[in-house]
Formats: sequence, structure tokens, C-alpha cells
Amino acid sequence: MSTNEAHQDPSPIELYLDLLKKCLTRSIFGEKYRSLPATNRGPLFNTLEKWLSAKNLHIVRAAKFDAQAREEGVDWPEEGETMIGLKRLQNLQDCITDVVQQNIPGDLIETGVWRGGAAIFMRAVLKALGDKQRTVWLADSFAGLPAPSPDLYPADKGADFHLSNDVLGVPLEEVQANFARYGLLDDQVRFLKGWFKDTLPGAPIEKLSILRLDGDLYESTMTALESLYPKLSIGGYAIIDDYAPAVPCCVQAVDDFRAAHNISEEMESTGQYGVFWKRLR
Ligand SMILES: C[S@@+](CC[C@H](N)C(=O)[O-])C[C@H]1O[C@@H](n2cnc3c(N)ncnc32)[C@H](O)[C@@H]1O
Repeated sequence: MSTNEAHQDPSPIELYLDLLKKCLTRSIFGEKYRSLPATNRGPLFNTLEKWLSAKNLHIVRAAKFDAQAREEGVDWPEEGETMIGLKRLQNLQDCITDVVQQNIPGDLIETGVWRGGAAIFMRAVLKALGDKQRTVWLADSFAGLPAPSPDLYPADKGADFHLSNDVLGVPLEEVQANFARYGLLDDQVRFLKGWFKDTLPGAPIEKLSILRLDGDLYESTMTALESLYPKLSIGGYAIIDDYAPAVPCCVQAVDDFRAAHNISEEMESTGQYGVFWKRLR
């Protein structure tokens, strides 16, 4: 084999992380069984479904496995441990790799973890890169989303995600068991159980290099930004999973926070859904 050919081969790290992305999303074999479309899950859910079908993507919980939806991370897997899809997992990998290689100090957090798949992947990337310092934090109620409080957060009016808490609420023990199945539950993983408003403001986290937000609501997004953005290192990444026209409450929270704090770093897209930026000041 020539040196050139050897150079093009994916490294063992790339091979492991690629396989893991396909397993966590169940893109590798596709899911054989899918639930029938849900009904009566509230107005925002219906908006989301409409927005997706206009883009020719399958509606949430489509009865048939849809590889494109799983690539974009726009459906809810029947069994997969994450709903963020291959593209946003790749974005996460790129951001973590950058902060490790550039020695940007700080832990990693995901606020809103569901079955834990994106956080499992965070731990895997650290392990694959040989990082033994950083903690992966998981913040969640482990019981689903709160009902909206439109008096406090008018943008959350009608954002009835909590009507889907039968699917969105995943107990802590189940998330821990998911980590353990991949051999990734260790003392570099810590859990913050409870509503964000109770756990995030006083969380025992000193510094962050990756701040990944996936809590959907204005309230959840704003609480996470206010509590954690000040801890994000220069050179670290803010990743907003739900910054998409289909989730206007999340978009509003991010826009309000950026305006209030004069954050002018350009937001880059993570695909059909979501944005991220590197903190520069
Ligand atoms: C869309 S799911 C997250 C998906 C996940 N990141 C993945 O990899 O598939 C949203 C999660 O946010 C949590 N959540 C949203 N708002 C919350 C809040 N205010 N307090 C605690 N948990 C919250 C829900 O319990 C749920 O697990």
C-alpha cells in the first residue's frame, strides 16, 4: 500500500465514532418497527409536523423509517438513543475535537438529554481523543418538559411539548443504563436532575468548552443561556439544537439573549435544523 492510500484510510478513532453515530441514531440498520403518527399533541407539535412535510421530510413518528429524516435529525427514533441525527452529531464531534485540540478549557454540557444519546456521544469523543480531564454534564428533569408559563414567558404560549412527556420524559436510570450499554458510564459523567430553573443557576460547574442546548422552550433555552453562557470559555462553542423556524420560542430566546448581551459572533447552521457559534469574546 502506498503512503497516499494509507493516508486516506479512516483512523480507528473515525471508524469508532462513525459507527457510534450510526448506532445511536439507528441509521445503521434502520428501525423495523415505528409507532403510528401521534395525535393531539398540541399546536406547536402540529406546526413542526407541517414544516417538515413542506420540506418533504417525514413527519415526526412517521410509520416508516426514513433515512433522510434520521440524517437531518427531524424525527423521533423508536429505539435510537438520540433524535439529533447524523449531521448534528457530526457537528458535535467537530466542536469537541476543536476544543480538545486547541486546549480550550472547560467541561461539556447538554441541557435536555432525552435518552442521553448526544451526551453518550460527547463522552465517547472525549474517550476517543484521550481526554481524561473534562466532565460531561447532563441536565434534565428526566421526566419531560415543563408546561409552558406564558405569563412569565409569552413566547412559550401554545408550546405544549409537555403533552408528549410520555415519550419525552426518560428516567435517569434509563439514561444511565444507556451509557452503561456503550461502556461509557464513568466518573467523567455527571447528572443534574430537576427543572433547569432549579439546577442550572447554582450548578457546580466552573468552566465550559461546549454548551449544547436542547430544551425547546423559551424558558428552558433562556434559563440555560443565562446560567451557563457566562461560564463558556473563549474559543468554546454554543450549540442550539432547536434554532429553527419550527420552534419559534427557542429562536426568540436565543435572539433575545444575544441582543441583550451584544453577542455578535455569526451563527452557523448545523443542517436543516439548529445553529452553533464559537465564542470569540
Ligand atoms: C428534545 S429532548 C432532547 C433530545 C436529546 N438532546 C437527544 O440527544 O436526543 C428535550 C429534553 O429536554 C428536557 N427539558 C426541557 N426543558 C426542561 C426544563 N426546563 N427542565 C428540565 N428538563 C427540560 C426534557 O425532559 C427532554 O428530555
